[in-house]
Amino acid sequence: MIYLDNSASTITKPKEVIKAVEEALLHFSANPGRSGHQASIKTALMVEEVREQISTHFNNGSSEKVIFTHNCTHALNLAILGSAKKGGHVICTENEHNSVLRPLEHLKREGLITYSTAYQSDKRGIRLTDIAPLVKDNTYLIVCNHISNVNGDKAEIEEIGKFCKEHNIVFLVDCAQSAGHEKIDMQKMNIDMLAFAGHKGFYAPQSVGSLVINGDIHLSPILFGGTGTNSLELFQPELYPERLESGTISTPLILGLGAGIKFVESNFNDIKSKLDDLTTFINYELRKLRVDVYTEPENANGVIAFNIPNLSSSDVATLLDEHFGICVRGGLHCAPMKHKALGTTEQGAVRVSLSYFNTVTHAQKLLSAVKYILKKDKSSISKTLQKIEKKKGSQKN
Ligand code: ALA
Repeated sequence: MIYLDNSASTITKPKEVIKAVEEALLHFSANPGRSGHQASIKTALMVEEVREQISTHFNNGSSEKVIFTHNCTHALNLAILGSAKKGGHVICTENEHNSVLRPLEHLKREGLITYSTAYQSDKRGIRLTDIAPLVKDNTYLIVCNHISNVNGDKAEIEEIGKFCKEHNIVFLVDCAQSAGHEKIDMQKMNIDMLAFAGHKGFYAPQSVGSLVINGDIHLSPILFGGTGTNSLELFQPELYPERLESGTISTPLILGLGAGIKFVESNFNDIKSKLDDLTTFINYELRKLRVDVYTEPENANGVIAFNIPNLSSSDVATLLDEHFGICVRGGLHCAPMKHKALGTTEQGAVRVSLSYFNTVTHAQKLLSAVKYILKKDKSSISKTLQKIEKKKGSQKN
């Protein structure tokens, strides 16, 4: 199998990550921060080490403001719902994932906020000039996707951050696809809140992520319950991280994330150059074929989207999977406005997304498979797809 769906989840994990999860299950499975016994304290110290690691990695200035979440969606919901201001205005971009659009739309339908969407004027990504004219007197939050999960477009984060600081607007960045691939310094880039998932660019297990907060932002919790502190009080504590971290956190996943971050930091330049080289190679080679490529060659960010004319992207993904053992994502990618902008709401898009563990051979095999599909006429493709459907049907029965 050739796995090219790393934006959905990386599946090859560094041995250090696997070892850290195993170690956690063997030696650090007491509840961190609940009981006062040595097993609990030992576990809590390990968790705090990872909190420190994340804080250092993103330079947010305070490990207490690193909040563990289940994933990036959870982190974005916490940031958006937790900072909601009645009567306020939010700006997002057309590149947002549903994990941003849906909480914003929810707040709007509840009559709490209004929001505006910035449209991309530059083919390569969102620019400050797309966002700045939308600011109103009551704008309190700008949410910006860093790297698009659909086609790898990259926003001008540093410039937008500087603008937000000058205008006293909170800046939230969705780093689902950029964390681990890009150097992100929250203080230098004036990012107030950053959301990421562990299982993508940090090669960690699924179901652990974080909302990282820089500075004095006070969020309302979206989950209430036991924190191991202030137990006699009926209200949620003011102190971070426990204010936003009710319930038992997952030590094995968090320690896996810590090992993943260490792996990325030790191999950062190699990871970056590999993603850059493979993305560029695939992009240029696809452009020589009769396909529509939706990723600008400059955006060598590990994601390339394309379509074969007159074929649905889901059918292409099925053919690649069933005939060539190549896993890519077809269809829609939970970012409806981006598909609208690319003109792919009907066809969806075939998305190839890379990791450190992909090779030139993987890229070459993908390109040969696309060439093979291009050579086939529509009726033979239909017959093949029908056979695949039949086979899948009989496997289910
Ligand atoms: N948001 C993830 C993706 O782009 C799951 O596939």
